[in-house]
Amino acid sequence: MSQALQNAQRYESEAERSISPEERPLFHLSSRVGWMNDPNGLSRYRGEYHLFYQYHPYDSHWGPMHWGHAVSKDLLAWRYLPAALAPDESYDLGGCFSGGALELPDGRHLLMYTGVADETQPNGEVRAVQTQNLAFGDGIHYRKFEKNPVITAADLPAGCSRFDFRDPRIWRLEDGSFRAMVACDRVDADGQMLLFGSDDLTHWKYLSTPAQNNGRLGLMWECPDWFELDGYQVLLASAQDMLPKGFEYHNGNGTFCLLGHLDGQGNFREISDQAVDYGIDFYAPQTILAPDGHRLMIGWMQNWDTCNLHTPSVPWFGQMSLPRELSIRNGRLCQAPLRELEALRGKPVQYRNVQIENGEIELDGISGRTVDLEISLEPGEELYNRFAVRVAKNDTFHTTVSFRPRESVLKVDRKFSGSRRAIIHQRRARVDHQRGELTMRLILDRFSVEVFVNDGGKVMSATIPTDPSADGIAFFADGKLSFSVTAWPLTADGRSG
Ligand code: FRU
Repeated sequence: MSQALQNAQRYESEAERSISPEERPLFHLSSRVGWMNDPNGLSRYRGEYHLFYQYHPYDSHWGPMHWGHAVSKDLLAWRYLPAALAPDESYDLGGCFSGGALELPDGRHLLMYTGVADETQPNGEVRAVQTQNLAFGDGIHYRKFEKNPVITAADLPAGCSRFDFRDPRIWRLEDGSFRAMVACDRVDADGQMLLFGSDDLTHWKYLSTPAQNNGRLGLMWECPDWFELDGYQVLLASAQDMLPKGFEYHNGNGTFCLLGHLDGQGNFREISDQAVDYGIDFYAPQTILAPDGHRLMIGWMQNWDTCNLHTPSVPWFGQMSLPRELSIRNGRLCQAPLRELEALRGKPVQYRNVQIENGEIELDGISGRTVDLEISLEPGEELYNRFAVRVAKNDTFHTTVSFRPRESVLKVDRKFSGSRRAIIHQRRARVDHQRGELTMRLILDRFSVEVFVNDGGKVMSATIPTDPSADGIAFFADGKLSFSVTAWPLTADGRSG
């Protein structure tokens, strides 16, 4: 094992001792120590889920990328394993960037990742180039392949950038051959996804370009995922430098989904595009097919432009989203919280048809920072102006999820969450409703809120830095309506990690 990897493993196992379990989310994976970004290598290996992540153990800010590693039986209770990769080879000294993983028929666990390394260009300028690399392991220890890199600039078709060529998503076909989809800018900075094929993992060939941005959705595309779902072919990807498009996309980094079909020649025929999460913090998701046939997605519950929301005294930064079950309804990608979450539910507190008019109320027994909350809004004769639920609340702080039926807008607002940074604190989504009737499910896990509206038709995620002692939940109305609510406290008791 290299010195760099030994150092990282020694450092993380000592440094994590300063973090008590209460200072972390209960069931969302957070960085073992230091910084976390993208989920990597989400895979099943020897009957368990493995999740790696972009990791800088030594600091709670981004730095030379390692791969952190955790394992779980249910995607809710996570056990940290030693860091799997460190930047320690000539082709990845600049970092081991994102990638995928799979279990090989011979029992090895394969990781495919992007290596970043400085290279002097013909004009004397030094620039980081990106190549695709492999590592093989047993679920704990990983050894980089001696024939790395396996895909380089030499394998790229004309007009592709070797500086933005990353995040391979690898899979194995029934005939035993391999495919990898890799994000790769064109030299004019337009995003696209390239497909490569290999029979032996060592020799790879460019096959096609299944999707191209053509200036529509941001600039560079990153972190592809590519799968079949409910009769559609789906591309998930994350774009840099996006422009807003109505309420659909927002400025900066965002994750989008292309739905389409493969034609007889295997070409992707796109039908539609949509955002994946309409909240503040979500990026670079990966999916996996669970043994029960459900397609599950986990994203980085953060976003590049908002990751200054550090609490300086906290030695970890970055958490993953709740695993979400994907489906396609009425031609749109929908998400539901992982059904195993229900095993964490304690005794519910339920209220039906609570009347509320121009003011705020709290309901006995409904509070907490690890809560599963189902709310349905039942408008009266006259349409109300606004309904809101305020969570992580005390006299000073709260985060609000509010709905204005006249505008059909649902808003997440964490302005009063205790953040001391001048970053985005609000985001709006347009949602469907019948005259103010709406259902939403909020999942709170200490430092985040994820809102699933209309059965997961739209999802909004936001991290919150609020001190966990702020555990009030209140309901507010401008106008008059009634609502029903069920709140389940979520506890670690039902986890099967
Ligand atoms: C996306 C990303 C990836 C890259 C990684 C680096 O968030 O930019 O494209 O592999 O982060 O940490």
